[in-house]
Amino acid sequence: MKHGRKLLAPVAGYTPGEQPTDPGVIKLNTNENPYPPSPKVMEALRALDPGALRRYPDPVSARFRAACAARHGLPGPEWVIAGNGMDELLSLVLRTFVDPGDDVLAPYPTYSLYEVLCALHGCRMVSVDLDGDFQLTEAFFKTPARLCFLARPNAPTGVAVPRGAVERLCREFPGIVVIDEAYVDFCDDHCMDFPERFENAIVMRTFSKSFSLAGMRVGVAAARPELINEFMKVKDSYNMNAVSQAVGLAAIEDYGYMRASAERVRATRAWLRAELTALGFNVPESQSNFLLARWAGTPNARGLFEALRGEKNILVRYFPHRMLADALRITVGTDDECAALVRALGEIIG
Ligand SMILES: Cc1ncc(COP(=O)(O)O)c(C=O)c1O
Repeated sequence: MKHGRKLLAPVAGYTPGEQPTDPGVIKLNTNENPYPPSPKVMEALRALDPGALRRYPDPVSARFRAACAARHGLPGPEWVIAGNGMDELLSLVLRTFVDPGDDVLAPYPTYSLYEVLCALHGCRMVSVDLDGDFQLTEAFFKTPARLCFLARPNAPTGVAVPRGAVERLCREFPGIVVIDEAYVDFCDDHCMDFPERFENAIVMRTFSKSFSLAGMRVGVAAARPELINEFMKVKDSYNMNAVSQAVGLAAIEDYGYMRASAERVRATRAWLRAELTALGFNVPESQSNFLLARWAGTPNARGLFEALRGEKNILVRYFPHRMLADALRITVGTDDECAALVRALGEIIG
C-alpha cells in the first residue's frame, strides 16, 4: 500500500460477527439481546426535539453521566465518562494511558479487539494463557505491563474469574487495570465498587447487551476523577451524539426493565446449557449471555457451525483459533430460538 503507514501494514483489523440481511436467520452469533429495549427508550426517541439534532450535543454528556453515577453508587458524574459504545472507550484508554512501544497485558483467550487496538496503537500485547478452567494463572499475576485488559465475564468463554482475583490484580499490578464488564448484568456480581477502592481500576460497561442497544452505541467507564480528566483531554469533542445521550439516559432510568430482561436471558441460559450438555457438549458455566459449547464429536465444531449456517439457517460464532477451535460460541436467544438450535444440533449430530 503506497500511502499506508508502516505500522498498519501487518494489522488485519477486527473481524466483527456477521450481520445477515435475511430476516429468516436465527441469529445467535454476536451476543445481542433477543428482547427489545425499554419502551421508555422508544418514547425518548419519539420525543426528541429537532433542535437537539440541529445543535451540537452536550460535549460532556452531563445528564447521562450523572444518572449513571447515581445508579452505580459512584460519588459523582466526575467519576464517569460516556462513549460511543464501549469499543470507543477501549480505544481511548490506550491513547490516554499507554505510550506506543509499551506492553499491554491480557489473558488468552479473550475479546480479540484488545489485540487489534494494541497493534493499531503501536504497543505490544502480552497474552498469558488462561488455565484449563479459563481462570487466571500465577504467570498472569506476575507479568508487569503498563495496562491490563480483563473481561469479566470473559468473552468468548463466558467464565467470570472470582472477584477476589480482580482485587488481587488491582493491588499487585503496576499499571491501569481495565475491567471490561460488557456482560456483567448477566453475572452474579460485579466490580463497580473498585474505582473507589483502587486508584488504578477502570470499570467499563456497554449498553449493547443487557440494555438491548447495540445499534445505538452507548458505553461508559467509571474511574477516579483524575483518570477521567485524562480521558476527557483525549476524547473527540462530541464523542456521544444527542440521540445516544437521550436514549442512554432513558435506558439507565428504566433499570428495572433491563434487570427483568437480563433475568429472562439467564433463565434461558440455564435451560440451553442443560440441553447442550445432554447432547454431549462440554459447556463451562457461563455468567454472560452466551455459552461456549465445546465439542469432541463428529462432525467437528467447524462442521457443526457450517451445517447450522448452511442447512438450518442458524448463525453461531466459530473461532478457528488456539483453545477455541473445538467450540461454538452461542448467544442466548429467545426460548424458541434456543429450542430451534437444540433441535437442529440434534439432527446434525444424529
Ligand atoms: C468483552 C466485550 N467488551 C466490549 C464489547 C463492545 O461493546 P460495544 O458494543 O459497547 O462497543 C464487546 C462486544 O461484543 C465485548 O464482547
